[in-house]
Amino acid sequence: MVFNKKTVIVTGAANGIGRAIALAFADEGSTVIIADTDKKAGEKLEKDLQKQNKIAYFIHTDVSDPASVEAMVKSVNNRFGPVHILINNAGISEFKSIFELSVDEWDRIINTNLRGAFLSTRAVAGSMQEAGGGSVINIASTRAIMSEPGSEAYAASKGGLLALTHSLAASLGESKITVNAVSPGWIHTGDYSALREKDHKQHLSQRVGKPEDIARACLFLCNPANSFITGENLVIDGGMTRKMIYEG
Ligand SMILES: NC(=O)c1ccc[n+]([C@@H]2O[C@H](COP(=O)([O-])OP(=O)(O)OC[C@H]3O[C@@H](n4cnc5c(N)ncnc54)[C@H](O)[C@@H]3O)[C@@H](O)[C@H]2O)c1
Repeated sequence: MVFNKKTVIVTGAANGIGRAIALAFADEGSTVIIADTDKKAGEKLEKDLQKQNKIAYFIHTDVSDPASVEAMVKSVNNRFGPVHILINNAGISEFKSIFELSVDEWDRIINTNLRGAFLSTRAVAGSMQEAGGGSVINIASTRAIMSEPGSEAYAASKGGLLALTHSLAASLGESKITVNAVSPGWIHTGDYSALREKDHKQHLSQRVGKPEDIARACLFLCNPANSFITGENLVIDGGMTRKMIYEG
């Protein structure tokens, strides 16, 4: 198993997509660090995984805070050695009119979704270099490349993540660190059975996405056998950004 005994940090892993990514790496025998602000859900996931003899640790982390990120990575390095894989998944959104969005709300979204990924990658890059290489995945969004009204801060943060991805891939390539983005479309993190027929049918894939769809892509992109893939953005959206829509 290629990920056995590898140290993997997943930010925002206490819930949703990040949780599925953490479970996928834990199943592969990795040491999984759940770096999240949600203490209750993070500690519960840590306990649940440890009960199944998987290796997982929750570390309370606010990815938008440089000191918090540095402290988390330092503690991982001290306890487990170098970091091999980082999944920058923590993210927040706020959809409202540009006339109602406050500057604080704008900053909070950009600082969590974009600055957080930069801070976390910078913090792990040194130990990845020492380990001889590694992989970073930035969880972006199809909203980086298409929009509904009232999504400026979120869309800008995710568009920034795509640019950060190829920029980091250029900077870290010599250190054998691949950096890729995964852009999910509609990924249902709640009760999948509550979805309606028309939710599924509007997708070319005839179904809404599941967190596991994103987790499997992370395993693929982080596999050293796929190290020729870097600086790329993998859109996983059931074909929604490929669907031509004419009204009338
Ligand atoms: N669900 C979707 O349809 C979808 C679509 C496109 C992109 N995404 C992206 O996927 C990622 C995960 O989304 P999700 O739907 O699972 O969201 P979610 O809200 O279920 O989970 C996000 C996690 O991030 C954590 N978090 C928030 N702020 C944080 C911070 N400052 N520091 C550390 N952790 C923090 C939360 O506590 C939570 O556990 C996000 O980046 C999101 O933008 C989701």
